Amino acid sequence: MSRAAELTADGLLRRLFLRHALDEQRHATLFAERARALLAAAANAGPVRFEGNWLAPGERGLDDLRVEQQSPESLLAFLHLSEKAAAGRFQIYQEVLAADPQTRAVFREVLRDEAFHMTYTDKQLGRIAPRRRGWRLWQAPLGRLWKAYLRLAVAVAGAIGTVALLVQYFVLLPPFALLAKRSQRRELPGWAPVPTSSGKGQYR
Ligand SMILES: [Fe+2]
Repeated sequence: MSRAAELTADGLLRRLFLRHALDEQRHATLFAERARALLAAAANAGPVRFEGNWLAPGERGLDDLRVEQQSPESLLAFLHLSEKAAAGRFQIYQEVLAADPQTRAVFREVLRDEAFHMTYTDKQLGRIAPRRRGWRLWQAPLGRLWKAYLRLAVAVAGAIGTVALLVQYFVLLPPFALLAKRSQRRELPGWAPVPTSSGKGQYR
């Protein structure tokens, strides 16, 4: 968001992007603090059995947003849809977190900002591209769909790679190992003289 603020020539967008950047920074701090408190509380609860990180989008470079390559309209459309999705998710999280009022309070606070981000991106998109607003909002999810496909393709490629290696190990390798064992049995133990054409040893 800071990079987007640097790049835009529109004064109002720059101010909004900067505020957005500061909000996201504050959210990161809030989440990190809460996560640290939860980790400290769970330190005695035993080892973690399931890590679901690989299910989540992000962290693989696929979801990186290259601000330089985006037009202001497509950036605003992307931001609007992302903030809308985040607001929807945070709403659910805070609803189900009745048992954890502190984490619920974090989500409630973040949700207020997300609602603002969702609204301002839509308004600004309407201001700078009033006629293309609908098209941009329709077009932006296609990029997300493509990234979802790429994530799936990476997961499938990983699975195929694992299967191919397992087949190599258990099907292709055993015959060679068997042949190597058989030829090993035919070998005489210890040193064996190697006959040369002159009948003399190699170094004589
Ligand atoms: Fe946000």
